[in-house]
Formats: sequence, structure tokens, C-alpha cells
Amino acid sequence: MQGRRILLIVGGGIAAFKIPALVRLIRAEGAAVTPVLTAAGSQFVTPMTLSVLAGEPVHDTLWDQGAEAEIGHIQLSRRADLVVVAPATADLMARMAQGAANDLASTLLLATDKRVLIAPAMNVRMWDHPATRRNLAALRDDGILTVGPDEGDMACGEYGPGRMAEPEAILAAIRAALSDGPLAGRHVVVTSGPTHEPIDPVRYIANRSSGAQGTAIAAALRDLGARVSFVTGPAAVPPPQGVAVIRVETAQQMRDAVEAALPADAAVMTAAVADWRVENGSAEKIKKGPDGPPSLRMAENPDILAWISRAPARPRLVVGFAAETTDVLAHATAKRLRKGCDWIVANDVSPGTGIMGGTENAVTIISDAGVESWPRLTKTEVAARLAARIAEALR
Ligand code: C5P
Repeated sequence: MQGRRILLIVGGGIAAFKIPALVRLIRAEGAAVTPVLTAAGSQFVTPMTLSVLAGEPVHDTLWDQGAEAEIGHIQLSRRADLVVVAPATADLMARMAQGAANDLASTLLLATDKRVLIAPAMNVRMWDHPATRRNLAALRDDGILTVGPDEGDMACGEYGPGRMAEPEAILAAIRAALSDGPLAGRHVVVTSGPTHEPIDPVRYIANRSSGAQGTAIAAALRDLGARVSFVTGPAAVPPPQGVAVIRVETAQQMRDAVEAALPADAAVMTAAVADWRVENGSAEKIKKGPDGPPSLRMAENPDILAWISRAPARPRLVVGFAAETTDVLAHATAKRLRKGCDWIVANDVSPGTGIMGGTENAVTIISDAGVESWPRLTKTEVAARLAARIAEALR
């Protein structure tokens, strides 16, 4: 991001209070910020705050004689490498979708020849309204990139999708949008790590997945310019920098997080999702007692890979993993058909291989095109090759 310039349009929503933090994050990466404030935006964040943090004056009117003597609105929109709208309110999105040019922000958005990234933020009903759905679809058709919104508590006291993406996630999207790698502008959802299925507040059922392969894949996709939503269970390795990290614990939470992250161009499901959860878990710690050990009754967890492969918002490319200990190829081939994904990356995780929790992996890729075995490589090399393949498939 070093030396790049972001034209940052701040709309009028309560999420604007997070924009000063975003400005700092962008500048810490060596990029410059030209702040533009709408009239409504100035109700939530002051021009002084923005200009001090950006180190540049704030632009907030189309009727600035000094600037317009040099056709300022055209200059501003052309001088940037990327235009970011955050928060993108329902009104700003509607005006963008219509091609309105009735204030400085909308005029800049119509005049720009650069990529535009929006971070929508609004009340859940406004977000779900058919008019906003139409506007969003139109903006996506125009090639506008989006990040968020997230689901959660809202300033208005309601709950649902509509919260602006966190500044770190917007930064990751900016980085991806500025990249000129082969996955620039693409959004990929990656699941990683194990899931924990609670027995009671202190005990859980888990598995030995470290999250190393998923983390390496997310980093490799990021390096090719993708915007990555990294949905991770409690993993042993830290998540990569420069991706939007969504931390979950259980399989059910992972499924919901993946759904909230859609739409995406591709999904890579590397997580070792627990197949079962404890149905008769306890809200209080189970005590040792005269009745002996508790019996746990298990219930089936949602199969995220099978679900996304048949979801209405199915990504163009869905990649699953198959960790097997016997008959790897036969099981993986059957799994691909059963789950409905495009590719299965199969590996042998028998104890002797040292693959589970180790640094190396030996994989076989099964797709429509046939079966291809790669030599034993580091997990980083497997990730780089797989990311390159994904870029090829999405081209
Ligand atoms: O059925 P199995 O667990 O062997 O399938 C492995 C593949 O399916 C992996 O890609 C894994 O991430 C995915 N999976 C999933 N949800 C589950 C179980 C597995 O997404 N509940």
C-alpha cells in the first residue's frame, strides 16, 4: 500500500465513529488518505478529526471556488488509486446505484475511473429492504467491490446484518482491491482449524487440527490479491495478517459465519469440523458423583461443505479437503460426489505420516479433470500451488 492514495468518502451513519481508526490503519501501511465528508457524515465525525489524522484537508463541498477553479471534483477522483465509501449508507448506495451527482461525494463517485469499494452500514430492516437489495445488485453489476456488513448488535438496539465491517476488515479489502495479483477483486472464504463442541462450560470435544494448512492457504490467496474471509475455529497457529478474521468455536457458529461472509467467488473448506456435537450438554459444570460418568448423547453437526456446494449463493469454485487414514483416493473420490464440491484436496493423515499438526503435506487433487498427486511439500508450498490453481480457475 506504500505510496498509494485512498479517496475516503465518509457517509452519515453512526459507524462513522470507526473511520478515524481506519484512517490511522491505512496511513500506518504507508498509504495517503484524502478524506471526503458528506453533509450527513459531518454530523458523526468532525472535519477536524479527519483532517488531523489524514494529515490533509477534508473536502466537503462541491461549491469550493478555489478547488473548482481547477475542476477539483474531477482531480480528486482521478488522483486516487482507490475510492472507499465507509460507512456506505442506504442513501449513498441508492444515489450511487442511480448515478446521482447531487453533492461532492456522489459527483466524485460518478466521475471516478478508479475501483470503488463500499462498506455498507445501516439498520437491519434497511439492509433487508428490497430497494437496498436492488441497489446492491446494481452496484455489484457495476463492478463495485463490497466489504461487510457484519451481523451483530446495532446502535439502534436491533440485531442482524448491517453493522459496518471492522476497520481491520476494511483495510484487508483495501489491500486486496489495490493488489494487481491475479485474484485482485476476488473474495474467497476459507474455513480453518478445529471446532470445539461444548460438553459443559469447562469441557469440550475437539480434534487435533492445528489450522496450519488453512492459515497457509489464506495467506497464499491474500498474496495473489484476494480478499479473504478467514473463518477459524480455535487453532494452534495465529491467523494470517491482512485477512478478515472471523473467530468461531462450534460447527454451527462456523456455518453461520460462512453464510454471513457470502457472496464469494470461491470457498476453501480446510476446517476439521467436528461431525457431532453434544446434544445433552450441560449449562453448569457436570460434577463427579455416585451416579458414575455421564452419558453424552451426540447429534449430527451441519456439513458446511455439503451445504455451501448446494447453496443458492454457491461460490463459483468450492474446494473441500479430505483427511483420510485408509483408501485415501477411493474415499476422497466418493466424498467429492457426495458433498457436491468442485475439487477435493485429499491427504493421508495416518499417524506415521506426521501430517496432522506437522509442517508438510502430500496431497492429491481430485476434480472433473481427473486425479493429480503432488509430491510431499511444505504446507506453505501446497498453499501457494493451490492458490495459483484457484486463480487459474477463476480467470
Ligand atoms: O466428511 P469429512 O469431514 O471427511 O469432509 C471433509 C471436508 O468437509 C473438509 O473440507 C471439511 O472442511 C468439510 N466439512 C465441513 N463441515 C462438516 C464436516 C466437514 O465443511 N461438518
